[in-house]
Amino acid sequence: MKIVKPDQSSEASKKQQVEAMFDSIAEKYDFLNRFLSMGIDKGWRKKAINELKASEPKYILDVATGTGDLALEAIRLNPDKIVGLDLSEQMLVKGREKITAANLGSKIEMVKGDSENLPFDNDSFDAVTVAFGVRNFENLDAGLKEINRVMKTSAKLVVLEFSKPKVFPYKQLYNFYFTYILPVWGNLLSKSSNAYTYLPESVKHFPEGEEFASHLRLCGFKNIIAKPLTLGTCTLYVAEK
Ligand SMILES: C[S@@+](CC[C@H](N)C(=O)[O-])C[C@H]1O[C@@H](n2cnc3c(N)ncnc32)[C@H](O)[C@@H]1O
Repeated sequence: MKIVKPDQSSEASKKQQVEAMFDSIAEKYDFLNRFLSMGIDKGWRKKAINELKASEPKYILDVATGTGDLALEAIRLNPDKIVGLDLSEQMLVKGREKITAANLGSKIEMVKGDSENLPFDNDSFDAVTVAFGVRNFENLDAGLKEINRVMKTSAKLVVLEFSKPKVFPYKQLYNFYFTYILPVWGNLLSKSSNAYTYLPESVKHFPEGEEFASHLRLCGFKNIIAKPLTLGTCTLYVAEK
C-alpha cells in the first residue's frame, strides 16, 4: 500500500503533516465538508450511527473525531459517554465549541491523541466509530489493531471512508469533480496549498471493499460487512471484535 502524504516532497512523517494540515484547515473544515459534499456527508454519518442502534453501546470512542460531527450524531444512541479522539488540537477546539453550544459537555469528551497509541485500557469501549480517518493513519494496521485492543469482545466498529465509484457515467462525472473541481475550490477556500489535492490522491491509493476488509480481519475483526453508499462514493464498514 502506497503511503500518501499531504506533501510527498517533505521529509516530515505523514502523521506530522496530517496534524499540521488539519490544524491549518480546522476553521473552514465544517463549511467545506457541507459545501464540497453538497450536504451528502450528513446522511452518511446518520447511516453509520444507525448501525449501532441495536447494540445500545454505553461507552463509545470516536477515533479521528475532528470537529466531532460523528460524536454529536452518536448522542442519538443515548450512551453514558462518548470520547472523541484526534491528533489535531485545532479540530478538537472547533469540536469543543459545538459540544458546548449543544450543552453536551457532560456526555462528550474531546481528547488529543493518536489512533496508533490510544490512551485507554484494553476492552474499554462498547463501540468505536471512525469517519474519514483511517485513510489518514500513518500505519493503517497499527491503528486498526489499537482500536481492536480498546474494544470489548463483540463490540462493533463502524468505519466510513471514501471509495471509488465504478458505475458509468457517475464514475466519470465524479472523477472529473474529484480531480479538477474539488481540489481547486477546496484549496482556495481553505487557504491550504495541498489539503484538497491530498484528498483525491489519498483516496486513489487507499484500500477499499474486500481489500480494506482483509486489513480489518488481519487486525482481529470478524463478521465484516462493506456497504457502498451513494454509488460507491463512500463505503460504510461494520465489523465486530
Ligand atoms: C477528514 S477528518 C475527519 C473528521 C471527522 N471524523 C469527520 O467525519 O468530519 C480526519 C481526521 O483524522 C485525524 N487523524 C488523522 N490521523 C490520526 C491519528 N493517527 N490519530 C488520531 N486522529 C487522526 C485528523 O487530525 C483529522 O481531524
